[in-house]
Amino acid sequence: MYSKEAQRALYDLSKKLLYTPHADLSAASAAERVQDLSSVIRYHEWRYYVQNDPVISDFEYDQLYKQLEALERLHPELIGPDSPTQRVSTDLTEDLDQVAHLTPMLSLDNSYDAADLNDFDTAVKKLCGLQRESEMAYAVEPKFDGGTIALVYENDRLVRAATRGNGEVGDDITANMRTLRSIPLQAHFSRHGIARAELRGEAIIRKDVFSKINDRRQEAGDPLFANPRNAATGGLRMKDPKEAANRGLEAFVYQLGFAVNAAGIQVLDRFPTHNDSILLLGELGFKVPALTPAPAVALPERRICANIDEVIAFCEGWQNQRDAYPYEIDGMVIKVNSLELQARCGFTAHHPRWAIAFKFKAKQATTRLRDVEFQVGKTGAITPVAKLEPVQLAGVTVQNVSLHNEEFIRSKDIRIGDQVLVERAGDVIPYIVKALDELRSGPERPVEFPTHCPVCHSPLVKPEDEAIWRCENAGCEAQVVQRMIFHASKHAMDIEGMGESAILRFYKIGWLHSIADIYRLDYGKIAELEGFGEKSAANLQKAVEKAKDNPIYRLLHSLSVHHLGLKSSRLLAAEVGHVLDLKDWDLDRYEEIKDVGPVLARNMYYFFHNEQNLELLRTLEALGVNLRQTEADQKPQSAAEGPLAGKSILFTGALATMTREEAETRAAAAGASIAGSVSKNLNILVVGEKAGSKLKKAQDLGSVAIWSEEEFLVNIA
Ligand code: IVH
Repeated sequence: MYSKEAQRALYDLSKKLLYTPHADLSAASAAERVQDLSSVIRYHEWRYYVQNDPVISDFEYDQLYKQLEALERLHPELIGPDSPTQRVSTDLTEDLDQVAHLTPMLSLDNSYDAADLNDFDTAVKKLCGLQRESEMAYAVEPKFDGGTIALVYENDRLVRAATRGNGEVGDDITANMRTLRSIPLQAHFSRHGIARAELRGEAIIRKDVFSKINDRRQEAGDPLFANPRNAATGGLRMKDPKEAANRGLEAFVYQLGFAVNAAGIQVLDRFPTHNDSILLLGELGFKVPALTPAPAVALPERRICANIDEVIAFCEGWQNQRDAYPYEIDGMVIKVNSLELQARCGFTAHHPRWAIAFKFKAKQATTRLRDVEFQVGKTGAITPVAKLEPVQLAGVTVQNVSLHNEEFIRSKDIRIGDQVLVERAGDVIPYIVKALDELRSGPERPVEFPTHCPVCHSPLVKPEDEAIWRCENAGCEAQVVQRMIFHASKHAMDIEGMGESAILRFYKIGWLHSIADIYRLDYGKIAELEGFGEKSAANLQKAVEKAKDNPIYRLLHSLSVHHLGLKSSRLLAAEVGHVLDLKDWDLDRYEEIKDVGPVLARNMYYFFHNEQNLELLRTLEALGVNLRQTEADQKPQSAAEGPLAGKSILFTGALATMTREEAETRAAAAGASIAGSVSKNLNILVVGEKAGSKLKKAQDLGSVAIWSEEEFLVNIA
């Protein structure tokens, strides 16, 4: 329908329209802008409703829509019959019969913060001819993120179900909707004097059911659904009702849109409030948002608020708890409770003036990849990091996002200059979902992986069995700094007050060149630094002195030998009287130790056959750091005491720095048991790249700690 070129042009135009002012335009420029806005809005509606694959955020779409509305208000002569504000968007497919709705199905206006809601309240009171100070009751309920449906009942029987379509006409989905157990096939409307009614609602899929659907699809090799909404809207239109029945769709009903008695006379006014009509629908057997606490959430699904302040508090409460709720919701809907007052407000061509959606902060956004930087870790691992044009995601500004490794970049074909889709789900670190390749305009260029270390310029190497390129120069400045940070961290020597910022600061001043310098600091000088003073300098000194007496397993671990975790450090420490004894060990001696594999054996062997490393250890000893086995070192730690003792753990998605097997071995070595699936008994889910339904499931449970790969590594260290 849209060529690639056309899409690119429309996308560029959207961004231009979003970020250039539109006030004070001449009549001619206003006409042009109305045209432009109309075309980009139509395009984005097509991407969203037809393709199920939007390329801008909902927020940006709404901004474009609002601009058009504002301009049309200023220049009513420019409103054409085909303007996006004059009809609601279309999602008609050609396969299904089409049916006319009994009353137009409108959309909702959107709001994003308390100020927007206050404006809405003011406007509503004005429309109702009420004083600003007067109380106005609102019904507030979740904005379900599924597929809109309209259900028609005649003489107490379900006779038709339709999608929203273009608002006037929708697709006939009666056969599919009849399969939903949450939709009664018969309901006693007649007892309430209603012969014919049209109900509006949303067909949605529970998050846990959605996970199972995707699990099944994965097993069958079918493409996965991006989210429950896509699975639901697809389910509505299935050609075979049996398949629709397998989608696990449920219908929430949230509006009685039309009701007439046997004589065809409108009887909606029998229900003085929105609340009354919803209570009636609940009584008749429909699933409606409840006034009692929602599953897994400490708030009711629906509340009648006495004024806009209560509305704001309720919406904000839900915003904080939305992840725990078993259904995907993207906001709240606020409706004037009194139908009499609703009537006074009336409608625009697009939405009722008596209702508004409060949209939650977006979890996905598109932004531009400005550049890719390569960071050097403590063992020389090179991590590509995306430098993004800053973008708001679920309330935080996102700018730097890990791209894990070369394979990640290649498999997603991410290019510098690309528009990328970024997602932040739950507590998980932001992540690049995909590059929007259809929006490329030419200057985008592939990410060139460096052949040499960006800091010390030594050639990079990549062991065959690893996904990671490394700088093998142990003296590389970047590695030295990272190793100092790790050495002092709580997982290693545990020097309180010597965190990353202190190390970086001392390093920049020129006091730290190697780990040994940590034990040579001049506390008199530190006391003079801004933000330190005598007391904190003295505390730091105490912490360093204390660290000198650490058991040697901590020292071993602090040396940043690749793959040497806390657990294997303990096992090794139990075997040696003095750390330097290890220089006499051969590979076999290492491998005799349970849990020390060939890779770690090799790394240890090389480390203790490198004169510089031995020199470092001798220097540390001369500076007072303990290198002799202590009592704490003598008993190797059993798994029952490991850092993850008693915890059950599960891995999902591809890990960047190790195989799944390796990860499980390391988790087990840390005392964890490996779980088979996400359940109430699971404690930790480690999320790699392309984490799918398990992550969602764990988030839905709410009781599972969700760790990134980095967090896992830190915790088993
Ligand atoms: S009331 C005339 N209430 O949001 C007012 N809509 O952009 C009609 N939606 O497609 C809407 N949850 O399907 C209303 N509790 C709720 C809703 C809700 C989800 C959807 C609706 C419509 C869209 C509006």
